Amino acid sequence: MFYPIAQKLMFACDAEWSHNFALGSLKRLAHTPLAGLWRQQLPLKPVTVAGIRFDNALGLAAGLDKNAECIDAFGQMGFGFIEVGTVTPKPQLGNDKPRIFRLPQSEAIINRMGFNNKGVDYLVENVKNASYKGVLGINIGKNKDTPNEQGKDDYIYCMRKVYAHASYITVNISSPNTPGLRDLQFGDALYDLLQSVKNEQLNLQAKFDKYVPLFVKIAPDMDGVAVQQVAETLLKSKMDGVIATNTTLDRSQVQGQRFANEAGGLSGLPVRDKSTEVLRQLRAAVGQELPIIGVGGISDADSAKQKLDAGANLLQVYTGFIYRGPELIRQIVTHL
Ligand SMILES: Cc1cc2nc3c(=O)[nH]c(=O)nc-3n(C[C@H](O)[C@H](O)[C@H](O)COP(=O)(O)O)c2cc1C
Repeated sequence: MFYPIAQKLMFACDAEWSHNFALGSLKRLAHTPLAGLWRQQLPLKPVTVAGIRFDNALGLAAGLDKNAECIDAFGQMGFGFIEVGTVTPKPQLGNDKPRIFRLPQSEAIINRMGFNNKGVDYLVENVKNASYKGVLGINIGKNKDTPNEQGKDDYIYCMRKVYAHASYITVNISSPNTPGLRDLQFGDALYDLLQSVKNEQLNLQAKFDKYVPLFVKIAPDMDGVAVQQVAETLLKSKMDGVIATNTTLDRSQVQGQRFANEAGGLSGLPVRDKSTEVLRQLRAAVGQELPIIGVGGISDADSAKQKLDAGANLLQVYTGFIYRGPELIRQIVTHL
């Protein structure tokens, strides 16, 4: 009952203001009796992927809790895992506002946030202070003012900072809102980056006596040939998994709607099929071994099942969760 009312109020306000208000409230109230408004006891549906045991296969996608300020509240809602970030070495403001737009007719969002975040040190402090004991992914990126040629230094810097605190680390090379970032998904640039982060992972494994799997998050805007090439590079560089997908630049599904022509990445229902297709192609290319997290347009138990049928081992939601709230987690986890 609580979410439909809260959502109505928030949808009457500016999207980014609502986002900040919601996160601020979750953070302040997580350890008070008001957490009962969103706390859910869900059935255990354990799965083990990449050597990690998850209470259930549904996670919160990156970008909602960029600074890891609300891990406890999202844990209380019953997610099987939480991915925080994208975080960069230095704090950065991101793009000018407005930079988030709702397209309610399609249960979609367009965002061009541009990795606004308070920097990796702040994120790590929040993770240390949280009481959440579940699976935590930390999604890392590069600062906007770091040229692509030095991009790997930013990823390695973040890896060193977060390694001891993460269940897995996501290398995000697929945001459309950091100029040039998606170029890192292809050819030598991709292999070079992935080899560097792999080496660092092995160094850090020896240092901390702990193996933290590395996942790579990719874009949906790729044809079959590009997916095949990415898949080969992921295998060659011994990545532990892949997250498919980030937001799309394609606007064909939202033509004519208010905000459809705003720059940025489109998420929610309009990215669903495209993202599932990339997931299916990836699964065919990598075989059964490599874990895949399916994300993009999941909005109910049926669309969650479509991703699993296409080859996903785990699932994540962002936009569907904004439109449907904690009830979506209950619905999907119950049907898993
Ligand atoms: C406002 C917003 C901000 C996002 N920020 C990030 C981010 O910082 N890092 C990232 O990897 N993905 C980010 N994403 C992408 C989501 O994690 C997800 O991959 C994408 O939205 C598709 O899933 P969905 O249709 O369930 O939203 C963001 C999405 C939205 C809507």
